[in-house]
Amino acid sequence: MAQIDLEFLKKLYAEFSNKKETTSAADKIQPLPFNMADEDQRREMWTETGNLLFKQGSVAAFTLAGGQGSRLGFDGPKGAYDFGLPSHATLFRLQARRLMNLGAKAGKPIPWAIMTSPLNHSETIQHFEDHSYFGYNRDYIRFFEQGMLCALRPDGTPLTDENGDYVEAPDGNGGCFRALAKSGTLAWFIEKGVRFVFLCNIDNALVKMADPTFIGALAGSGLPCAAKVVHKKNAAEKVGIFASKNGKPAVLEYSDVSDELRNKTNADGSLQFDGGNTGMYVFRIDSLRKIASQELPWHAARKTVSGVADCWKFEQFLLDAFPFLGKIFLFGVEREDEFAPVKNATGNDSPESACKMLGNLHRYWLEQAKVKLKAGKLYEISPRLTYAGENLSQEVFDRELGRGIFEF
Ligand code: UD1
Repeated sequence: MAQIDLEFLKKLYAEFSNKKETTSAADKIQPLPFNMADEDQRREMWTETGNLLFKQGSVAAFTLAGGQGSRLGFDGPKGAYDFGLPSHATLFRLQARRLMNLGAKAGKPIPWAIMTSPLNHSETIQHFEDHSYFGYNRDYIRFFEQGMLCALRPDGTPLTDENGDYVEAPDGNGGCFRALAKSGTLAWFIEKGVRFVFLCNIDNALVKMADPTFIGALAGSGLPCAAKVVHKKNAAEKVGIFASKNGKPAVLEYSDVSDELRNKTNADGSLQFDGGNTGMYVFRIDSLRKIASQELPWHAARKTVSGVADCWKFEQFLLDAFPFLGKIFLFGVEREDEFAPVKNATGNDSPESACKMLGNLHRYWLEQAKVKLKAGKLYEISPRLTYAGENLSQEVFDRELGRGIFEF
């Protein structure tokens, strides 16, 4: 039977069985404005700064892949899911190859940390093994597991299964800071001279891994961290919203936001709380060090676990790092260019919608390069050929169609 920290669980139960509400009426919540990075005159300078940081080996990437992906209904690591692209690229492969493209330009590989959970760790490694790590330099990838926490019965006693084993679940994506330090990966980054860490969810098919412009923007700002935001599609969209809470930056999770706040509009009818969190962030290494040595708050959810109704599950959220750090650079991006999450089996944010968005974006890149294309077709371009639409031409298209460029 696994060891669990009973005292710690008792403390959490005592805390949560007596209180509720993470957002109280007394909280002062205000919109947190952001500008679109594309329209910013400093953009070129940011890109130059970012490229230089890559050449110096100052940048690393960190993927959160410990979630269970239950909404998608795929029984395995989400990153290993073939979500329907003509090349059959998985989300892990897309991330790996985009980083490799940047690494090749910088003349050095990018250190890449991947956080799994004990529930998907070996399958994740197997996926990389099966694909020869997608050609990534293995000395520059580290996998590590996040922590687990036992669920509690409604009366606060640890939940056990029919064999008497404790029923544990991942401790939330906020566990990433503790796990990064505990696994030695933070020290590995520091040894390598890393100063900026790009952190992202696993499930965004358009993620611009370690985007140099984004990293350069944070570097120039002097702020502790940055996040990419999109204008919300509509009030109901299930994304966290960036806001100011009691004078500090915070993400209000969609499940915690009242209908009234969600639907608040400006005089011109636009949403007041409009900054959708895309799950793409950059942290200074010192910020990560600070958060790792802190206890982020815990959140409790009441759920049916292993057939037992109303159990307690405790998690930490990465998003609580922002109020703790106190300041953030919000970097507005276009959804069509950067945000196509794969969350649900069908409909919004599904494999189908993500393939379509990627196909449309890559078609647009080819059109910009004046390539002759068939009407009504979408395209997938391998990150081996381009990171964000550069280096494309009719010649490249003719040579690569069916190899590195696919029509669908
Ligand atoms: C998350 C954000 C939300 C944002 C959205 C964008 C959080 C809490 N919320 O929502 O603000 O708008 O992404 O797509 O981050 N994970 C772990 N370990 C865990 C739990 C999750 O590694 O214990 C990872 C998942 O594998 C995933 C990421 O964290 O890569 C996001 O977690 P998820 O639970 O899917 O959050 P969302 O509801 O999608």
